[in-house]
Amino acid sequence: MKKLQMLFAATILLTSTVFAAGHIKSDASVAIIPYPSKVEMTEGVFKLTPATKIALHFDDEKLPLATNFLNSVAEDVFGSKLAIVKADKPIKKNAINVTLNKSLHEEGYTLEVTPSVINISASTAHGVFYAFQSLRQMLPVEALTAEGVKSVAIAAAKIEDAPHFPYRGIMFDVCRHFFTVDEVKTVIDMAAMHKLNRLHWHLTEDQGWRIEIKKYPLLTEIGSKRADSQVVGTHRAHGEQYEGKPYGPYFYTQDEIRDVVKYAADRFITIIPEIDMPGHMVAALASYPHLGCVGKGYKVRELWGISKEVMCIGKDTTFEFIEGVLEEVVSLFPSEYIHIGGDEAPRDAWKACPACQARMKAEGLNSEAELQSYFTQRIENFLKKHGRRIIGWDEILEGGVSPTTTVMSWRGSKGGIKAAKAGNQVIMSPHTHCYLDYPQGADRTKEPPFGERRPEKPHYLPLEQVYRINPYDQLTEEEQKYIIGVQGNLWTEHVNTFDLAMYMFLPRTSAIAEAGWSHTNKSFKRYITNLNRLVSFYDAYGYNYAKSYWRELGK
Ligand code: ACM
Ligand code: ZN
Repeated sequence: MKKLQMLFAATILLTSTVFAAGHIKSDASVAIIPYPSKVEMTEGVFKLTPATKIALHFDDEKLPLATNFLNSVAEDVFGSKLAIVKADKPIKKNAINVTLNKSLHEEGYTLEVTPSVINISASTAHGVFYAFQSLRQMLPVEALTAEGVKSVAIAAAKIEDAPHFPYRGIMFDVCRHFFTVDEVKTVIDMAAMHKLNRLHWHLTEDQGWRIEIKKYPLLTEIGSKRADSQVVGTHRAHGEQYEGKPYGPYFYTQDEIRDVVKYAADRFITIIPEIDMPGHMVAALASYPHLGCVGKGYKVRELWGISKEVMCIGKDTTFEFIEGVLEEVVSLFPSEYIHIGGDEAPRDAWKACPACQARMKAEGLNSEAELQSYFTQRIENFLKKHGRRIIGWDEILEGGVSPTTTVMSWRGSKGGIKAAKAGNQVIMSPHTHCYLDYPQGADRTKEPPFGERRPEKPHYLPLEQVYRINPYDQLTEEEQKYIIGVQGNLWTEHVNTFDLAMYMFLPRTSAIAEAGWSHTNKSFKRYITNLNRLVSFYDAYGYNYAKSYWRELGK
């Protein structure tokens, strides 16, 4: 088996060295990201060899997912898997004992590396998986890249660990630019490395519909391609510039969706699909024009930015359509949460539409904001019948939301704060800290192009700013209970290659991970030290990442 590559040794390797004849010395410290709740270095090293056994002391149908992961690492290191044995008593030598401890957090674990054995305990297979993720990060990275490895020393340590927030996610927009199944799987592997547990998959947009819906085939026949695209890195305020070529058709078949959902679930990641409505629907309107207020003249959008063309909330056929789409969506995605978007839906078309105005009158709605709330609540009630809950962007607060709605705060934290104070669940992803499409270095000549409306006031989101997010800002202890987590968002108007997507995700996703996991135990200084090591793992796995954080720190 081919070893992983050291693509670009951007970091100073700490203390590890390849010894002669394939024996690899340990790293001197535990540099795990997200940083564990408690770490204590102890004496000596454990020598992992191809003969080390994984000893399972309990049964759980999901344990093979964890052991499969560890064995994929063993294959990268040794070219062979470790034996898995069932054991009643702890094995005393050259084993990784995995035991059940029901008192631990459902995603937490303890990990003790001693010179003779490694002991792991967890209350679920999910916790075991995270213990193995930590163990991988404790390997000297040369173990993954050197040829002919016979043993790998791991520094002895005692770790107790559990996440702070239950929801730790990233969002991937595959609509403005499309990414293949394999690329999405790489993002899932990268997310799992950071102990994230949600991938919010933004599947529908003005510029492209990316999920096959059998009941509505035109969504992908027409909606998955556009005649042209705005040039990456330009802003239409300074003149519309087009690529001069069509884009698509690009979409995922339902079989591909199922495959990706399973791939993620096998890594303890739940995929939350987003079907963005009633705005950001132009690709659907181009496919089925009767869904819009005007009912004709739509084409899949070629420019970035917000369209005034939105779904008609006056017509019952709109609800029939959405319900038909969502029936297939819930059959594909087991996630309890379904994201229904709700952002950036201009109200002009509803103001001018007799059907929408009639709906407002019939339902006693006083504003178009309330009309959108009526729409959202009807969709929420429909999804409730399927046992699902909705997440919406913070605009959905404007006309009022039901108490069971989860709000994703993106226009800063204001919406999230308001929602938490009202007793709604909140996921914090304010653009001020979490928009991973913003360039990450101050020096714009060294960053990929990003279309700026006001070049004199450029968007800019450095690593440290991501790290410093406090999802609880301005909330009382009681209100903090409604904050379920954090999420980094990668919009892809200006991200047209997968290498660039990874560059935007990394290393900032590691800061999101630490904000979500290590909230009560953060130190930017320690994090940067550890990140200097983690990037060598990014190198080994071929993950592109921004180097600008070194520039930002004046290195
Ligand atoms: C958004 O950035 N429109 C949620
Ligand atoms: Zn209408």
